[in-house]
Amino acid sequence: MNTNQTSSPAVGIDDIAFATGANRIDLAELAGRFGVEPAKYYVGLGQSEMSVPAADEDIVTMAAAAAAPIIERHGSDRLRTVLFATESGIDQSKSAGVYMHRLLGLPQAVRVVELKQACYSATAALQFAAALVARNPEETVLVIASDIARYELHSNAEPTQGAGAVAMLVAADPAILELETATGVYTQDVMDFWRPNHSATAIVDGKLSISAYQDAIEGAWADYRSRGGADFSEVDHFCYHQPFTKMAIKAHRHLAKSLGSERTQEELDAQIEPTTGYNRRIGNSYTASVYLALLALLDGDDDLTGRRIAFLSYGSGAVAECFSGIVRPGYRSALRSDANRAQLDARTVVDDARYLQLLEDAASADVHDSDRPRETGAPFRFAGVAGDRRQYEPTSA
Ligand code: HMG
Repeated sequence: MNTNQTSSPAVGIDDIAFATGANRIDLAELAGRFGVEPAKYYVGLGQSEMSVPAADEDIVTMAAAAAAPIIERHGSDRLRTVLFATESGIDQSKSAGVYMHRLLGLPQAVRVVELKQACYSATAALQFAAALVARNPEETVLVIASDIARYELHSNAEPTQGAGAVAMLVAADPAILELETATGVYTQDVMDFWRPNHSATAIVDGKLSISAYQDAIEGAWADYRSRGGADFSEVDHFCYHQPFTKMAIKAHRHLAKSLGSERTQEELDAQIEPTTGYNRRIGNSYTASVYLALLALLDGDDDLTGRRIAFLSYGSGAVAECFSGIVRPGYRSALRSDANRAQLDARTVVDDARYLQLLEDAASADVHDSDRPRETGAPFRFAGVAGDRRQYEPTSA
C-alpha cells in the first residue's frame, strides 16, 4: 500500500534485459546477392549484421528469454501487469503475452495485454506502466517489446530486417532510470509502412518513411518542450528508434538543425554512436529497437550516473513520443553487460542460402500444422502448431 500520499515516488526502469535470434547473417552476404558494395550497408545504413531466428523461435520465445532473468532476480510477487508490445503478432485475438505468462510461471493474479502501433507501442506500454506504478508504488509492471522484422525478399528494405526482444521491469524507486514526467507526443495518418492482414511482410515506402520519421520526431520534441521537457542542450544522450543505425544519426542531425543547435556534426554524431552497438548487429527489432539503444548505452564504458537521456520513439503510420529520464546512482550493479555482449557473439553465423531457407520455413510454419525442428539454445522453444494451436515448451522438455 502507498503510505506516502503527499509526494510522488520516483518511477522508472528497475531492470532491463534482451534476447535475440539464435543466428546472424553478415550483411556482406546480402550485398553479394544484391550486387552492391558491403559498404552500402556497413556505412550507408550503419548495419553490419542481422539476427535471424531459429526454426523454433518466435516473438514469444524471445520475449520469454528476455524476461526470464528479470523474473529470476525479482520474483513475481509484486507483478500485477504484463504489457506485450509487438507489431509481428502471432494471433489476431490472443495476446502473445499470455503464452509467455505460462512459460514464465507467472501468477494468475496478473493482467496481460498486447499493444500495437508499429515500432512505437513499447513506448506507450512504458508510459502506461509508469502511470500504474505511480498509482500504486507497491506494484510492478513487466513491459515486453518483441518483434521479427520481415520485408519482401530481394527488396531494398530486406537488409533492414532483424529480430529481438527487450523486457523491462517498471517499478518505484528504480535501480536504473528514473522517468521524468514531461512527454511529447505526435500522431499523423501517413502510409509510410504498414502490414495488411493478408501479408506476412510489411509494405514500405522507404523514402517517405525517412521523412515521416523526421517530421514526427520534430513534432514530438516540440510537444515535449511545450510541456516542460528539458532543453536540447540539457540532454546528455539521445536514444532514437533505429530501423538502421544511420537513421538515428540522420534524425539527430535533422532535429539539431531544426532547433538551431550550435553543436557540430561530429559532436552530434558522438552523442548517438554509443547507442548503436547492439542495433548495428541485430538489425531492426521494431518495438525493441529504441530500448536496445538504451541498453547499448548503459552497457558502454561511460559512467552515466545522473545523466539525462532523451528517448525519441517512432512507429510508422505514424506515432512518435519524446520523453526523458535520469540515470540512477549504482545503475551498473543492475546490468548484465558481459552476458549481453556474449549473447550477440554466441549466435550461429549463417550464409545467404541457410538464411533464405530459415525465412521460407518460418513463413510455412505460421500457416500449416507442423512440428518445428529442435534448433534453439534459448530457454524456451516454439514446438510447432497442432490443430491451429501454437505449442510452446521449455527447451529442456
Ligand atoms: P536503398 O534505396 O537501397 O538505399 O534503401 P539508398 O540508395 O538510399 O542508400 C542508402 C544509403 O547508403 C545512402 O546514404 C547512400 O548514399 C549510401 P544517405 O545518402 O541516405 O546518407 N550508400 C553507400 N555508402 C557507402 N558506400 C557505398 C554506398 N552505396 C550507397 N558503396 C532504405 C534504403 C532505408 C530506403 C530501405 O532499406 C528501406 O526501405 N528500409 C525500410 C524502411 C525504413 O527502415 N525506414 C526508416 C524510417 S521508418 C521507421 O523507422 C519505422 C520502421 O521501423 C517500421 C515501424 O515503425 O514499424 C521501418
